[in-house]
Amino acid sequence: MEADLPFAHSDELPSSIPAPANPIPHTLVNTRPLHNTPFVAPYVPVNPEVAGAALQFAGVGASDVLVDLGCGDARVLTQALSDHPAPPARCVGVELDPFLAEYIRSNHGPRLADGRLVLLEQDMFKVDLESLGATVMVLYLLPEGLEKLKPMIGEWLCGSAAAAAAAAGAPRRLVTITYTFPGWDPVDGRQASKTGSGFMGGAAGMHWLFRYEAKSVR
Ligand SMILES: C[S@@+](CC[C@H](N)C(=O)[O-])C[C@H]1O[C@@H](n2cnc3c(N)ncnc32)[C@H](O)[C@@H]1O
Repeated sequence: MEADLPFAHSDELPSSIPAPANPIPHTLVNTRPLHNTPFVAPYVPVNPEVAGAALQFAGVGASDVLVDLGCGDARVLTQALSDHPAPPARCVGVELDPFLAEYIRSNHGPRLADGRLVLLEQDMFKVDLESLGATVMVLYLLPEGLEKLKPMIGEWLCGSAAAAAAAAGAPRRLVTITYTFPGWDPVDGRQASKTGSGFMGGAAGMHWLFRYEAKSVR
């Protein structure tokens, strides 16, 4: 499938790319193997270029509630609020790692206080996406985690609330970074960086973005 995905849109990426804002925080999740834990991905922060491209590709706009399940240090969400041309009304980050949650509380107090950023320190599999008011999501997780999320995300993309939102002209959408939902067809895909710079500007290879909508769900 990847051979069919278009590269052309990468010209739309912003030309000036901010440096990573934060040093990498200490984590619980990266200090032990993931198996036999609730964690479905290690902490690997996305770089700002890829985050900006993902926000653009997801079509994040002013009436959206943007959710990141496994938000790490919340960089995708804070970038959406600070640097995206159409910042969302609200962002919700779900993060199970207590060190990352504490890092967010310590570094983004004003955002948390004004309610534009909401942190849920909990297992992503226990959140109720409807009660969060999620309208758009950006996810950077391993395929195993995406597989496990399929029932929850499938209902969010295709259930009655999703149909009502689509009928009202606000279809729900989701962008994954690098990895795909096994067995689902993204409606579109694009390369996220011109440079090929990966994790924190290193040479970890190209990042791809995949966009999912209701018709992706099987
Ligand atoms: C690859 S990192 C992505 C971080 C951030 N979204 C970004 O793009 O920079 C995945 C994150 O998911 C978190 N995570 C993994 N399993 C989780 C779970 N079951 N519930 C909540 N967070 C989880 C990890 O602690 C880690 O911070």
